[in-house]
Amino acid sequence: MSNIGSYEDRNKDFDWSLAEKELGYKDGDTINIGWYCSDRICEMGKADKTALIWEGLGGKEKSYTFNEIRLASNTIGAFLRELGIKAEDRVCLFMDKIPELYIGFLGVLKIGAIAQPLFSAFGDESLFVRLDNAKTSAIVTQRKHVAKVRKIIDKMPYLKHVIVVDDDGRKPLREREIAFSLENAVPVESIEIHPTKAESASVLHYTSGTTGQPKGVQHVHYSLISQYLTTKWVLDLQDDDIYWCTADPGWVTGTSYGIIGPWSLGVTQCVKDVGFSAVGWYEFIQKRKVTVWYSAPTAIRSLMKAGDEVVKKHDLSSLRHLASVGEPLNSEAVIWSEKVYGLPFLDTYWQTETGSMMLTNFPGMKVKPGSMGKPFPGITAAVLDAETFEQINEPGKVGLIGFKPGWPAMMRTYWNNEETYKGKFKNGWYLSGDRSSIDNEGYFWFTGRDDDVINTGGHLVSPFEVESALLEHEAVAESAVVAKPDEVNMEVVKAFVTLKPGFEASVDLELKIMNFIRKKLSPLAMPQEIEYVKSLPKTRSGKIMRRLLHAKEWGEEIGDTSTLEDDE
Ligand code: WT7
Repeated sequence: MSNIGSYEDRNKDFDWSLAEKELGYKDGDTINIGWYCSDRICEMGKADKTALIWEGLGGKEKSYTFNEIRLASNTIGAFLRELGIKAEDRVCLFMDKIPELYIGFLGVLKIGAIAQPLFSAFGDESLFVRLDNAKTSAIVTQRKHVAKVRKIIDKMPYLKHVIVVDDDGRKPLREREIAFSLENAVPVESIEIHPTKAESASVLHYTSGTTGQPKGVQHVHYSLISQYLTTKWVLDLQDDDIYWCTADPGWVTGTSYGIIGPWSLGVTQCVKDVGFSAVGWYEFIQKRKVTVWYSAPTAIRSLMKAGDEVVKKHDLSSLRHLASVGEPLNSEAVIWSEKVYGLPFLDTYWQTETGSMMLTNFPGMKVKPGSMGKPFPGITAAVLDAETFEQINEPGKVGLIGFKPGWPAMMRTYWNNEETYKGKFKNGWYLSGDRSSIDNEGYFWFTGRDDDVINTGGHLVSPFEVESALLEHEAVAESAVVAKPDEVNMEVVKAFVTLKPGFEASVDLELKIMNFIRKKLSPLAMPQEIEYVKSLPKTRSGKIMRRLLHAKEWGEEIGDTSTLEDDE
């Protein structure tokens, strides 16, 4: 029997207080995610249960019980507090998927500070704009990433501490840098958990938009309510499950469902801190006896590409439930997974801003391959007319996806950018920025984004950020960045550039520019192709028309080009 039982029954009289009750929370109480994910689980008698099984390069492994997670997060929390980190200070977690990332996240929350996880493959420029926006007080990182911090630290007087979790003493640390080793620190048996309330800020996740710098999506401790319940009902986690979320906590899936969801339920999870390979992933599932697997379409398509034979070479019989998020999950991938694993990947749709799942396929529900499913109980979702923001009731008609505000994990603002936050609401709806239709049975069918943001392998990349970075390259005069189709990643970054006088178009220069972006921003943002052009299509006022370049890449009708010189 699945946790959700019947979707229809759950929808009747649904109230979030259901989750509050299960978590023993009442309006006005202290609610601290760090405590809920460790101390409370220990108090419930699961102190010796395994919380985390971690595997790194070269088969290195570590395992932690809930009590060890509790102690270790106390220890990190106490260390930060001793350094002077106070409630609401921003603490950046800039690490690979090592145990310190997961445990540090809880430690930061326990002392009431705001956790700012950032993807460890970010280059110095990506890192800088996010730290600068948040005016981050401390960054917890690894030796291998310190060089990137050193490059920008002089521009960040507010960044008081660079905490290195794996310092080996071989190279001297510099000013503001300090070593901290979880293994050598004296475990702190108890610390005062900061009495955060429902609306106290918890996590700051950065997400990319079409224009402007990345936005800091600010969540609160009350988000736990929806993260807990969606994990329970959609991922169907049960006490004896071994759960694997393949997402990196640098992104929201890796925190909402890679830390908070499973641990607030007291479920064992495993983490693999090694890059993708089909064999590596199947070996992991086989060895760890993974039962519930939450992944992403790009990974599934890569597994599809690796073929059916490699599946047969592994014992994957432990798997009982699969789910996916981050980009459109094409029907072929759902059908294929049912064929080879005996289980369909169930699609879920949500965003950094929504904090928890919004549209989902539930265990036991009829799966329509290619559809994102139906709204989670308590979520009012609709497609809206793009002009009037009125609800469209006609089945099959495409509109903007909108949600009625008010679910617990909804973002509370964009950090320091209330105006942009307010702009996300129209006619009483939160606008997701995506388009979809709804069929006559209430299933949502994704059609695309409503902006120029590129979704490459489930990661959003802002064309604006890449264009700005390209302009910093000595050879680039102008640039326009769009998505180009890709078999596995759906979309990849493509740049059109015009060169400055004195620079010759060449393959060598293309590689140099690509590498420049990879180092400055990240491997995800790196253009997979650079096309040299003599000029870029522009409106009369000089705005580059990405739309035309995009249409060309996707073989779409360009439409009436007489407006080419007009402003949109
Ligand atoms: C955007 C949000 C929260 C998960 C990680 C991504 C796209 C997400 C789906 C899906 C089609 C999807 C949307 C959305 N997206 N899930 N099931 N089908 N598209 O979080 O980085 O904030 O990205 O990812 O475009 O707006 P994010």
